[in-house]
Amino acid sequence: MPPLPPPAPDAWAIVVAAGSGTRFGAAKQFEPLRGRRVIDWSLAAARDACAGVACVLPPDHGRTEEAADVCVSGGATRSESVRAGLAAVPLDVEVIVVHDAARPVAPSSLFAEVIAAVREGADAAVPGVAVHDTIRHAEQGVVDRAHLVAVQTPQAFRASALRAAHAAGGEATDDASLVEAAGGTVVVVPGRSHNLKITDPGDLRIAAVLLDEADT
Ligand code: CTP
Ligand code: MG
Repeated sequence: MPPLPPPAPDAWAIVVAAGSGTRFGAAKQFEPLRGRRVIDWSLAAARDACAGVACVLPPDHGRTEEAADVCVSGGATRSESVRAGLAAVPLDVEVIVVHDAARPVAPSSLFAEVIAAVREGADAAVPGVAVHDTIRHAEQGVVDRAHLVAVQTPQAFRASALRAAHAAGGEATDDASLVEAAGGTVVVVPGRSHNLKITDPGDLRIAAVLLDEADT
């Protein structure tokens, strides 16, 4: 493997870990995964790529996460949790990366790639992967998948664009949607097909295999 580049000095990551894991049946981000917890993998990748890390935790978590520079309590929705994290990021930080704690296989190189795309001028950069299945709208039939990508985290933002997009509140399943709705530009960089989001219990077994492969 090539050596890791140093962490970006002007970038912080917000790792959102305040969800309750309804579909999983538990707060999946704290489940064991190959000798660590899911969140530990996510924090480590963020740490390797960014100068600072803010971790957003469930209000009843009762401890801090040592791999983070600052820990705050999240809200009832993912967007509220991101806003809690934003409030903890220093105001002079130029690039902010938002990452789901539930994506433990995302490599630090992917953080570096979305950060680079924002440095090149985008308000937001998201990893996207081509959709391989045929996609149907449940009522309206097959959708042309040629232009579709499945969007992942980490997502990087010009800090001012992310703060402006969240200033009015707003709810979305990711932050690039809010930035785009506020008039910002979003670019897609190549994602990783193995960058799965732990959603159901079976996903933990898949993540363990993917992390084994990443080591070899
Ligand atoms: N998240 C958060 N605060 C919330 C909801 C979600 O910080 N109020 C975080 C989760 O911890 C996760 C990421 O956002 O790392 C993506 O959310 P998702 O996969 O939907 O996790 P959960 O909301 O916990 O799961 P579910 O939707 O099944 O309840
Ligand atoms: Mg959720």
